[in-house]
Amino acid sequence: MTYLALKHIHITFAALSGVLFLVRGIWMLSGSQQLQRRWVKVVPHIVDTLLLVSAIGLVVWSSQYPGEQSWLTAKVVALVGYIALGIIALKRGRTKQVRVAAFVGALACYVYIVAVAVTKNPLV
Ligand code: HEM
Repeated sequence: MTYLALKHIHITFAALSGVLFLVRGIWMLSGSQQLQRRWVKVVPHIVDTLLLVSAIGLVVWSSQYPGEQSWLTAKVVALVGYIALGIIALKRGRTKQVRVAAFVGALACYVYIVAVAVTKNPLV
């Protein structure tokens, strides 16, 4: 395994995580029963776990640590936002209005994470 291969794995899981979240968000908006399917409840968790494992691998391998590198700190903070708002959007939000707002916020966090990853600048 090379560093570049691990980075490509990380990027692949990052893209998969985004697509799966987008699709589930659209199903939430349309009130689709697809959200209740077993694979829809299981696969995104596996993808997100592997995304995080690959992220930790890159951090350790490149010796760039959140707390030292401000762009990595920004990624972790935005990741917490992506997860928390994602849970509100797909599960916890009591009203549709709250779920829609959380969905938009989570997507904004995701876009910010990718922009920070590419530019290595927390101010994007
Ligand atoms: C939703 C979550 C995440 C997404 C969408 C994401 C996306 C990306 C992307 C697109 C790249 C490639 C950037 C480039 O070089 O062009 C990347 C690289 C990287 N990410 Fe993530 N990432 C996520 C979470 C994390 C987290 C939580 C960490 C660790 C704190 C992390 C650490 C890294 C590192 C160390 C690199 C490699 C930088 C390099 O060597 O060039 N990522 N990420």
